[in-house]
Amino acid sequence: MAALFARISAPFYSRTVFARAMSEAKVLVTRQVPDSFIAPLLQETSIKVIPGGRDAMPKQKLHEMVRGVDGILCTLCDRIDESVLRAAGSSLKVVSTMSVGYNHIDVEACKKQNVAVGYTPDVLTDATAELAVALLLATSRRLFEGALSLRMGQWGSWDPTYMLGKGLKGSTVGVMGMGRIGQAVAKRLLPFGVEKMLYSGRAAKPEIDYADFVSFEQLLERSDFIVVTCALTAETTNLFSSEQFSTMKNTAVFVNVARGEVVDQAALVQALKSNQIAAAGLDVMTPEPIPTNHELVQLSNCVLVPHIGSAEEQTRLMMGQLAARNIVAALKQESLPTPVPGT
Ligand code: DGY
Repeated sequence: MAALFARISAPFYSRTVFARAMSEAKVLVTRQVPDSFIAPLLQETSIKVIPGGRDAMPKQKLHEMVRGVDGILCTLCDRIDESVLRAAGSSLKVVSTMSVGYNHIDVEACKKQNVAVGYTPDVLTDATAELAVALLLATSRRLFEGALSLRMGQWGSWDPTYMLGKGLKGSTVGVMGMGRIGQAVAKRLLPFGVEKMLYSGRAAKPEIDYADFVSFEQLLERSDFIVVTCALTAETTNLFSSEQFSTMKNTAVFVNVARGEVVDQAALVQALKSNQIAAAGLDVMTPEPIPTNHELVQLSNCVLVPHIGSAEEQTRLMMGQLAARNIVAALKQESLPTPVPGT
């Protein structure tokens, strides 16, 4: 492939070679998506799109389907590791995920093989922040529990102590991971009358003047609401475990819209069962989908939604199109609109 790149970049006949490379370009889109999502790919007559199916592609099938492709447009359900890169072979030039998280891609392996990697930051920030706020309120104000109680005919009459929850006014909110999504969540929560906004992470961000940077320990101890928006990395895997839950207030509400693996789920179950913390609202968990007989699903102080942070019509359209534009750019040997940092 390096040789092909060298030939393509030779200035005097690059157009001819490029036309040939593009005429052969095959792109696997691992999931069935509306045409509008991948319009930038479909508009390129020199790109052949190989569509995936309705469900996530099993590993074996992925290995078969990637053989000889130039690009892979994937989702967070597809683990793009060395074995997939090997199965694709030297034709592969770009992996583009329709997600802001890219923990499912072995970025180092891609770099070693000169495979460009794209992702979709920014376009999903608002939708994910909106969902985080909705989930926080649904959890703290016990919306699902209340709705279920009504459906089950358990709603007697108006009761002074029925379904009491916790409000945001005068509270301290802690955001773990004050990146794009964390900041969008914080800005949306402040108008609810939050008294103190805290955040923790790798380093303080001087441009953030509406929240205080604190140690992780401080965040755990002081927050009434904790919202997790950090990326999943080796450092953040199982970041929230027994010790962290026992450091939190008994009244704390824990919300995770990042990745399930940031939480030691068994420890969370224990913390919720023993009322070490008050409640949890989770858009992400392990595994996904979580079995319906999982303990977490049975707990009345846990609100679970099926990883829908970015599931908003315009957002998904923009994510699809950006992922497609990353592929087209890479195949044209142009800079990707949104390459994964460090690639
Ligand atoms: C992402 O993009 O990483 C979200 O988890 C799904 O949209």
